[in-house]
Amino acid sequence: MQFENSIRQQSTNYIDMRHQVDFLVIGSGIAGLSFALKVAEYGKVCILTKGDASEGSTKYAQGGIAAVMYDTDSFDKHIADTLVAGDGICDREVVEMTIREAPQRIEELVRYGVEFDKSKGGKFDLHREGGHSEFRILHHKDNTGAEIERGLLQAVHDHPNIELKEHQFAIDIITQHHLGQRVTKHTPDIECYGVYALNCITNEIDTYLAKVTLLATGGMGNVYTTTTTPIISTGDGVAMVHRARGVLKDLEFMQFHPTSLYNPAEKPAFLITEAMRGAGAILKDCNGNEFMQKYDSRLSLAPRDIVARAIDNEMKLAGVEHVWLDARGIGKHELINGFPTIYAKCLELGINITKDMIPVRPAAHYQCGGIKVDRNGESSIHNLYAAGECSCTGLHGGNRLASNSLLEAVVYAHNAAEHAISKIRQIDTSAHSRVPDWNAEGMVLNEEMVLITQTKKELQEIMSNYVGIVRSDLRLQRAFDRLNLIFRETEELYQRSVLAEPLAELRNLIACAYLIIKQARARRQNVGLHYSIDLV
Ligand code: FAD
Ligand code: SIN
Repeated sequence: MQFENSIRQQSTNYIDMRHQVDFLVIGSGIAGLSFALKVAEYGKVCILTKGDASEGSTKYAQGGIAAVMYDTDSFDKHIADTLVAGDGICDREVVEMTIREAPQRIEELVRYGVEFDKSKGGKFDLHREGGHSEFRILHHKDNTGAEIERGLLQAVHDHPNIELKEHQFAIDIITQHHLGQRVTKHTPDIECYGVYALNCITNEIDTYLAKVTLLATGGMGNVYTTTTTPIISTGDGVAMVHRARGVLKDLEFMQFHPTSLYNPAEKPAFLITEAMRGAGAILKDCNGNEFMQKYDSRLSLAPRDIVARAIDNEMKLAGVEHVWLDARGIGKHELINGFPTIYAKCLELGINITKDMIPVRPAAHYQCGGIKVDRNGESSIHNLYAAGECSCTGLHGGNRLASNSLLEAVVYAHNAAEHAISKIRQIDTSAHSRVPDWNAEGMVLNEEMVLITQTKKELQEIMSNYVGIVRSDLRLQRAFDRLNLIFRETEELYQRSVLAEPLAELRNLIACAYLIIKQARARRQNVGLHYSIDLV
């Protein structure tokens, strides 16, 4: 079985909307907005985003953004912490470059209007999280991402060269395939001419042509049943590059955050930031006893892969659905003022975190792998860049260090912007006139949403049960076999249905699940977040 999604045949009739820009950006999280602001001086920029502009993982980031800002810390220590968390398979040059660039990118965020908390002396107030040997997390209370998104969106709205279009769902990257040429993963010079995008308001499919396209589509947490990521995180960018035959890497490394709030009916799962453990909160088992000493000398502040596996094991041993996080030792004033969002959220559910322990369990949180890019953020497809969570730069290796992803997004948005600006004048757009518009002939309305919703649930259960925190050869084989059926059914549905966002997202999730399983099966050693009982 190939799991190779078909790409619909196109018509040559140019009746739909065609748009032509210099820079096309897919996604309005930290990566897309940062890139747009940088290239906007050099051409016309269009940002497409599938929901409301602010909706994405960025808005939900709590802990903050890691950077070495003062002499009490050092680049060498941050580099060492990143390499240790990555379990020996990070790209060292990328780690060094990213961490050394961090202070400049933080200064830029501040110039765009983003506010980070400061202490009384006027210096940034720094937090500490798992795997960090120093206090180096810049934050805005416990809602750092919302502040970053607010600041960047404001700057984008104020820029005359940037058009931001909400509710526009990018379906596929346009390449030579759409000009009638056969494109395989061995085709040497695949080129990107833009994207086809579904206008979710008019239900028309528009053609966006661009000299440069940046994918900043975020993660794929919704491959799993329990995830901290928002509903938009359906791996669209990764799936599009898979269909376009581009190179993808490290997708077996799905990071599970150890402490999402146990509240089964809630989607996405609410995060209890690691900064709370940094401030002194302690993990306890169902009987209220500490357990991390059995697993790692760094206790509750060990890197995430270790803590999440420890919790998973404790839950399985005791047959329970959560463990406890005891934050009571932090003190009432610090809890209410330092973690206002978490305090208010828990109180809504009847949990007073100054007096009660918090029920927590791991949840799919961050995809370390993605679209393989070089140090300029360029993918294997010409004129196609990727930044943020959908990309794989080599920074995270087998496991991302907490708060390094917002950092990676701004560093790579910068690098990609510089590179794209330097080459935009030389980009040949002669093929654009031959790009056909989308062909929707012969499609019938899909009236049964249950075919999509039920399949999505099945997919999430397969992935959660067989391809979660702990894997085995048998579980991966089972997942693969079951996914095969779902894949075939969904492809048939896709071929006969009028395209709508839920179906397109389901296909993308299936493609991502396939890629996670395929890359997990190929990894014959336990490393970072990939842990199989058959490889112990
Ligand atoms: P996102 O912010 O997810 O944005 C993706 C964008 O792409 C959205 O605008 C979406 O609408 C758009 N999009 C997706 N598909 C399409 C499509 N087909 N067509 C059009 N538009 C599309 N990291 C840290 O470093 N520090 C933290 O403290 C931290 N806390 C976190 C807390 C939570 C609860 C979560 C879920 C993640 C956290 N992370 C944290 C991870 C970090 O927030 C994300 O990795 C980062 O924000 C991703 O940014 P992004 O720009 O790549 O994607
Ligand atoms: C958190 O606040 O615990 C999340 C930080 C991250 O995912 O980097």
